[in-house]
Amino acid sequence: MLRKTAALMLALLLIPTFTCGETLTVNTGSRVHEISPTLYGIFFEDINHAADGGLYAELLQNRSFENEDLLSPSAYQHLSGWQFNTSPEGDGLAAIADSMPLNAGNPTYVSITVRSPGYAFQNLGYTSSVFRGGIPVTEGESYDVSVFLRTKSFTGRVCVNLITRGGQALSDTVSFTPGDAWEKHVSTLTAVSTSDEACLNFTLLGTGDVDIDMASLMPCDRIGRDWPGGGVRRDLFEALLSLHPRFMRFPGGCDAEGSWVWDNLYRWKDTVGPVEARRENWNTWGYMQSYGLGFYEYFCLCEELGALPLPVVGSGVLCQARTPSEKPMNEEELAAWTQDVLDLIEFATGDAGTAWGALRCEMGHEQPFSLKYLAIGNENWGDVYFSRYEKIRDAVRDRYPEITCIVACGPVAEGSLFYASRARILQAFPEDTVDEHYYMDSDWFLRNTHRYDLYPRDTRVFLGEYAAHEPASGGTRPNNLYSALCEAAYMTGLERNSDVVTMSCYAPLMARLGMDQWTPDLIWFSGRDIVKTPNYYVQKLFSDSLGTWLLDSSFDEGNLEAEGLFQTASAADDGRVILKLVNVSGEEKTIHLHLDGKENVQGHGTLLAGDRQDTNALSREKVSPEEFSFELSGAEAHLTLPAWAVLVLYVP
Ligand code: AHR
Repeated sequence: MLRKTAALMLALLLIPTFTCGETLTVNTGSRVHEISPTLYGIFFEDINHAADGGLYAELLQNRSFENEDLLSPSAYQHLSGWQFNTSPEGDGLAAIADSMPLNAGNPTYVSITVRSPGYAFQNLGYTSSVFRGGIPVTEGESYDVSVFLRTKSFTGRVCVNLITRGGQALSDTVSFTPGDAWEKHVSTLTAVSTSDEACLNFTLLGTGDVDIDMASLMPCDRIGRDWPGGGVRRDLFEALLSLHPRFMRFPGGCDAEGSWVWDNLYRWKDTVGPVEARRENWNTWGYMQSYGLGFYEYFCLCEELGALPLPVVGSGVLCQARTPSEKPMNEEELAAWTQDVLDLIEFATGDAGTAWGALRCEMGHEQPFSLKYLAIGNENWGDVYFSRYEKIRDAVRDRYPEITCIVACGPVAEGSLFYASRARILQAFPEDTVDEHYYMDSDWFLRNTHRYDLYPRDTRVFLGEYAAHEPASGGTRPNNLYSALCEAAYMTGLERNSDVVTMSCYAPLMARLGMDQWTPDLIWFSGRDIVKTPNYYVQKLFSDSLGTWLLDSSFDEGNLEAEGLFQTASAADDGRVILKLVNVSGEEKTIHLHLDGKENVQGHGTLLAGDRQDTNALSREKVSPEEFSFELSGAEAHLTLPAWAVLVLYVP
C-alpha cells in the first residue's frame, strides 16, 4: 500500500501543475565555490561486530581460543563459541593449554585427550541470545577451512565437516593427519544443503592427545581471498562500495584509543603480519577482536573501495568520553608511541628498503598505499590531550609534511568543552583539520543546517561522527525515515559549506542483528542478509550525486526551512546540474523549478519517500530509492514533492 502511494506520487512528479507553490531558481552559470571532492566517506569501527562477525569473512567465533574479557577474565571464556564431547561415539577430555603455544601472539590453545575414537567438538559461529544464528552455509557453495594441529601420541585422523546442531551432515568431509609440530592443515568444504545454523565439526578418529589452534572457515567467494587476514564478506563489501565512499576512517572511535586499561589500546603492529601471530585484543565494545581485518587489510580495502585511508591513532590518553581516567602516557611511553605512529606511516608508504615498508611488501603489496590524512586522538579535549597531540603531530609533520593531521575537538556539538577546544585548536593548530563528533536528536539537525555558515573560511572541519537520534523504544533508537531526512536536510548545509567541511561520515556504520552495542547504525546484517536503512539510502543518494561546484539556488519566497523544505544545487564536471530537495514535513509541496540556462532537456532523478516512522528490516524494505525521468519545458518544471521525501534531480 505504501509502495503504491510512493508510485502515485512519482506519477504526479514533474507534471505541470497550476496550483500555487514555491519557486526555486537555480543560476546554473554561477560557481559559488568548489565542493570538497572528499565530502562523503565512511567510518569503520569494530563496534556491533562490524568486523569480527561482520565484514571480516571469518565464520568462526573465538577461532584461536584467545577470548578473554580484559576487565574480568576467566578461563572458561577461552572456550566460548565452542562445544566439546558432543558425540556418543567417542570419549575424551578437552582442556585449555598454553605451554609451547603456536606463537607468542597466540598463547592459548585446546588440548584434547581422546580415550575412545569418535570424540567430536564444534565451533558454533556467531550466535547470540537474540539471534540464535550460527554459521550460514549455502548449498553448492565452497568454504576454505584450515586448522593448526599438533600431537605427541595421536594415531588417527582429524575429520572436519559442516553439520546441523542436530548432527546432520551439511557438507563433504575432509581429514587431516596431525604431526608432532604445529602445522597448518588446509582444505575446502562444499555445502550439500543450505542452513543458517551450521557448525564446523571436528571428529577425532583415533586415540591419544591432539592440540588444536587457529581454526578458520571462510566462504571461497569473498573479497581479498589472498590478503593475509583472509578477506571480507562480499555482500557487505558491495554495500560499502555502493556508498561510493571517498575516504574510510578506521579503526575507531573509542576502539582506536583503548579504554579503562592500556592493554586494549589499538596497537597497529598487533594487526599485521601472519594472521595466526596477531595478538587478539578485547575491545572497548566488550568482545574479542581477532585483528584478521587489520591495518594491511584496511589499506587494501580502501584501494578496493576507491577510498582514501584515514587512520586514527591513539593520542597518549585513554578514551576520555567513556572511561573515568585518561591515564595519560608519560614522556617515555609517549616517545615510544610516537615512534609507532611514524612506523605506521612507513608501513603504508615506505619502500622495500625501510623496515616497515618491507613488511608491507612481504605481506603482498609492493606499491605504497596512498596516505594523506592521519587523525591523532578521538573525541579528546583539554591540556592532557592537546599537549600530547602536539608532540605526536610535530613528529609526523617533521617527517611527513604532506600528511594532513586531524585534531579531536571533544565528543559534543556545543557547550563550553566544545568552544574551548575549538578556540584552542584555532590558536595552536590553525592548519590542522578539526574532527567534530556529535549525536543529537533529529530536530537539532533541522535547526542547525546553518552551523557552518559563520565558520572562518580558511578553517577545515572533518565531521568524523554524527547521526540523528530518535527517542529510544525498548532500548533501541530506530533508523526511521524521519531521522534520515533530518540528516539529509543537514547534509544540504554540509554541501553549502563544503569549502570548510571537507569530509563527513555517519556513525556507526554497521551492526550485526542481535549483537549490537549501539543504535542507530547505517547498515544492519545477519549472517546471511543485509538491511539498508533509510539513513543508508540518504548517504548513498548524496554521495552518488556529489557535484564539483556549488551553484547559487534559492526559493523566491525566501528561506523555507521553517516549513521543512531544504535544497542545494551543484554542477558536475560534465555540466550536469544536480538538485537536491528535502521535504521534512507531512505535507506534499508544489515546486516550480526554474533552471537558468537549461532548455527542453530530459533529466532523471531519484526519490526516497515514505511515512515518517518507516524503517527497513530483513525481508521488508519499506523505504528504498526509485528512479524516474522527466522533461524540462523551456527552463521550467513543476513538481509535486511528496511528504517525507528526499529527491535528487540530474539535468544534463
Ligand atoms: O560511533 C560510536 C562511538 O561513539 C565511537 O566509538 C566514539 O568515538 C563515539 O563516542
